[in-house]
Amino acid sequence: MLPIEIRPDIFWVGVNDRSTGLFEGLWPIDNCGISYNAYLIRDEKSALIDLSKEAFTDDFIRQVSALVDLSELDYVIINHMEPDHSGALTRLRELAPKAKFLGMAKAIAMMKDFYDVTENVEVVKHDQTLSLGRHTLRFLFTPLVHWPETMMTYVEEDQILFSCDAFGAYGALDGAIFDDEHRDLLGAEQDALRYYTNIVAAYSKNVLQAIDKVSAHPIAIVAPSHGLVWRKDPDRIIKLYQQWAKYATEPAEPGVTVLYGTMYRNTERAMNYALQSIHAAGVPLEVFNVSVEDPSYILPSLWTKRGLLVACPTYERAMFPAMVHALSIAEIKGVKNKLAAYMGSWAWSGGAKAVFDGFVERLNWQPVGSVEFNGSAKETDIQSVQQMAQQLAEACMQG
Ligand SMILES: Cc1cc2nc3c(=O)[nH]c(=O)nc-3n(C[C@H](O)[C@H](O)[C@H](O)COP(=O)(O)O)c2cc1C
Ligand SMILES: [Fe+2]
Ligand SMILES: [Fe+2]
Repeated sequence: MLPIEIRPDIFWVGVNDRSTGLFEGLWPIDNCGISYNAYLIRDEKSALIDLSKEAFTDDFIRQVSALVDLSELDYVIINHMEPDHSGALTRLRELAPKAKFLGMAKAIAMMKDFYDVTENVEVVKHDQTLSLGRHTLRFLFTPLVHWPETMMTYVEEDQILFSCDAFGAYGALDGAIFDDEHRDLLGAEQDALRYYTNIVAAYSKNVLQAIDKVSAHPIAIVAPSHGLVWRKDPDRIIKLYQQWAKYATEPAEPGVTVLYGTMYRNTERAMNYALQSIHAAGVPLEVFNVSVEDPSYILPSLWTKRGLLVACPTYERAMFPAMVHALSIAEIKGVKNKLAAYMGSWAWSGGAKAVFDGFVERLNWQPVGSVEFNGSAKETDIQSVQQMAQQLAEACMQG
């Protein structure tokens, strides 16, 4: 894409990644891509804010070189050292030998660890300002959103917040970079939610602290390091992130996520009765087959819904492995405070329920009930399933 002017002499110089299958080697983005947003300010002194992933260095250098002579570049602001934003660093240093690299103390330490760079670097402090001429940068420390060295950069005169991973989203930028130009804003918000739950959710407490810190400043534009630049309604993405971050410690929305896995459909047949009961109670539900659905797509529902029904059989004295995988990812991301129920089939000794109980304990879930049956579910088992599902649904409406 061509560079895009956000405000006079402030440019988006990002790149689109449509070739990486798994972001962080884990999260599918083959259907949507992702952007690595970087920004350039031209002034008496010029400054680049964030860089790109290494594989996109050539595209990135071309973008920036269209606007400035890199050999004259004055500053590179490192908001975040994760290689999706710093991968172009080695090459950029060769092309911009005068540029001074600024970041939090931890970022400067990481620069040595990742790229063996120790020269022409400078540690900045929280709330420190840097005048470029007509533009004043203010550095706001926001550790653990998403790494310990992460900060945001705020331009005082234009009230732009370069927020790095915070307020970011999956999705390559399809020609338009601004919220007011985007034709499917609800879709973009879904991409932001999946990104939040996959990448940022584990640091929700830090997100709320970061939002507190930045709200001391008027914000006209939110310019994150992934996804749309919010200039029409910057509050929208801040409010969404705030709401999602609160779900780490407070009850989420009324609704039930149903996760199921099955080999011979005994568990699945019984689960269908549970779905009917939840639906009849008027509670929104989403159903995922853990054997085929990537946890990346399950997390948004788990994160935003109050209730969880785990339906799967016993496998090798333990829980069906695909379910263990899905729930383990949920555990890593801190999916806590759920109202949770278990149901499933077994044949000789059982074992899945004990694994479920472990998740309940570690994640502070409130158990609503469990139904285990030997082989196929009998009439009494089905009644128990219906009763439990109704209880779960009702509890979720209250919670
Ligand atoms: C590979 C494999 C391992 C199993 N391990 C156990 C086990 O350790 N204990 C047990 O009670 N049942 C075990 N079972 C039996 C299943 O839990 C049982 O067949 C159940 O009805 C399957 O539910 P489904 O029809 O929903 O797949 C195992 C089944 C398979 C295929
Ligand atoms: Fe990151
Ligand atoms: Fe990132």
